Amino acid sequence: MRFVPLAAIVAVTVTAGPGLPAQSPSHTVMPVPARIAMTGAALRLDSTVTVAIPGYRDRRLVGAVDRAVRRLEARLGWPLPRTAGVDPTATIVVMVEGAGYAIPDLREDERYTLTVTEKQATLQAATVVGAIRGLETLLQLHATDRDGDFLQGSAIDDAPRFPWRGLLVDVARHWQPPAVIKRTLDGMAAAKLNVLHWHLTEDQGFRVESRRFPALHEQGSDGLYYTQDEIRDIVAYATDRGIRVVPEFDMPGHTTAWFVGHPELASAPGPYTIMRTWGVHVPTMDPTRETTYAFLDEFIGEMTALFPDRHWHIGGDEVRPKQWNESTVIQAWMKERGIADAHALQTHFNQRLFAILARHDRQPVGWDEILQPGLPAGAVIQSWRGTEGLTQATSQGRQAILSAPYYLDHIKTAAEMYLADPLPDGLTAEQAALVLGGEACMWGEYVTMETIDSRLWPRMLAVAERFWSPATVRDVPDMYRRLAINSRRLTEVGPTHFTHAERMLARSFPSDEIPRVRQFLEYARPRGFAGRGTNQLSPLTRLIDAADPDPMTEQRLLMLAGGADQPAWRETLDAHYLRMTTFDTLFANMLPRAPMAADALPLAEALDQLGRVGHEALGHLAAGTTPNEAWFDAAHAAIERIRGKTFGLLRPVGAESVAALIRRLSAS
Ligand code: ACM
Repeated sequence: MRFVPLAAIVAVTVTAGPGLPAQSPSHTVMPVPARIAMTGAALRLDSTVTVAIPGYRDRRLVGAVDRAVRRLEARLGWPLPRTAGVDPTATIVVMVEGAGYAIPDLREDERYTLTVTEKQATLQAATVVGAIRGLETLLQLHATDRDGDFLQGSAIDDAPRFPWRGLLVDVARHWQPPAVIKRTLDGMAAAKLNVLHWHLTEDQGFRVESRRFPALHEQGSDGLYYTQDEIRDIVAYATDRGIRVVPEFDMPGHTTAWFVGHPELASAPGPYTIMRTWGVHVPTMDPTRETTYAFLDEFIGEMTALFPDRHWHIGGDEVRPKQWNESTVIQAWMKERGIADAHALQTHFNQRLFAILARHDRQPVGWDEILQPGLPAGAVIQSWRGTEGLTQATSQGRQAILSAPYYLDHIKTAAEMYLADPLPDGLTAEQAALVLGGEACMWGEYVTMETIDSRLWPRMLAVAERFWSPATVRDVPDMYRRLAINSRRLTEVGPTHFTHAERMLARSFPSDEIPRVRQFLEYARPRGFAGRGTNQLSPLTRLIDAADPDPMTEQRLLMLAGGADQPAWRETLDAHYLRMTTFDTLFANMLPRAPMAADALPLAEALDQLGRVGHEALGHLAAGTTPNEAWFDAAHAAIERIRGKTFGLLRPVGAESVAALIRRLSAS
């Protein structure tokens, strides 16, 4: 089998049919493999399909193969084999050399090759985790035609670009029950992500059962915490999917919830209550007392039995030194030891903490604030305030991961995050070698168990591709093409991003209006992170919570505007613009029956203006006429009023397509 160079594959362009664009002849695999060649052959899937594991096998591999076969079976609708045999001529053959690491490890070999011919699909990997990655690819090669189901003929030789491909899930600010974590792990496995960074403690919640210090979870969690059995179960679930679980116990700041049950850990007497508001709060651990370290030593000792990963996240971000500055005892203690300021005091704390972790055989990971003079070697630096932390850490010979542009709560588009590379410009080869990868962050201020999936998926698939695929894979339209397909595929393993809006809208809108409300949401994005003014006890049940962070409409309208010379494309685009003018009346009329319609009105009015300008622009294009200066002035003014602006809690979709049409008219 000859491999087509990757560039030739990703360069395949979407071909324009008479109406909407045809499906690209390219593949739908996401993340794009390191090397992939599509052969045009088809391995037909019928009732004779057999599955075999002829080489090495263990419980984890058998389980992974079985899960993949069950997913395929659910798509096909007829029974596939319940057990994998050893016949090397079976339809689907999984050949593995050995177990790899028993506990998922940064050094794991995740490579695999996958060959699909008319007769057979052969997946080969050195390790079980490699096979787990390849099984996800195999499932993405499933397609249908008039003759039924088949796997697309292909030759794939795949390996990740980075060994650390993570997702942070904050379960402290809003509680996320085990079921949410499990379906997130299944989504991660589908995306070939391999690190769950579990942000377990915060000012607003302490989410782990501690048998040694039960006041931590009993008083710091509102009763919403994982039992130790649940933690073990989730870690095992992740292990079965080749996913590491890195717990974060953020300290010395972001720690109020610890102090509700253990005020003696704090730098001021208390008493403390669970923090309900967001932000950077004052309560901070006391780094000057031996009792703090004795407590942490015992606590970490207890927790390491639950979290087997070698890496341990200590947090270290956003420490407010107010309690330290206002305590005469702490100030005197610092003076005695020549500790000059709060940064130096945090470094002292980190030195002690790193020593404790070393005793428990753990390597620290910390947010970039910990990068201060005197920080001991050995920590992985997670750069979140930009790329500077990563550049600085690697210039000091430290390992680093990048999170800065991958904050899912900031509601950037998939494309914006996709185009940000974990290796920023200007790194030397030595520095680049110290970058382990990247992590997206799903912070919990504005997500509940009902809405979190809609913020995670599908954009996370684009970020996951950035972490896995070669750096040269950067074709945004092709990414969105595959994103749309794989977003739907993902629902098969549990994420609810296609159903959450339906469920939410059903509580606030008459059922006959819901299709129209959903149509409106195709032209709406949630506003970004800041400024909503809610806290932990506020409802997150508004229209914004049902909105999609990056509706596919944005891409569709832009593409249609690019092809507006063709009447069929123009008609389709015009239908969108005309629809955009209908929502203000719709929601105004709905108000008496559905008070939540008020959430839509400000954006509906903006969309009305936008749709009118777009419709008029298309009219000129169709007629071949050039608008007068007054029209251009008004059109530009409308775009300026609307593009990138927030209306209520929503932002418009479609302004770029109208702007593109105006540019086109002014150039003609
Ligand atoms: C952070 O976002 N405070 C790490």
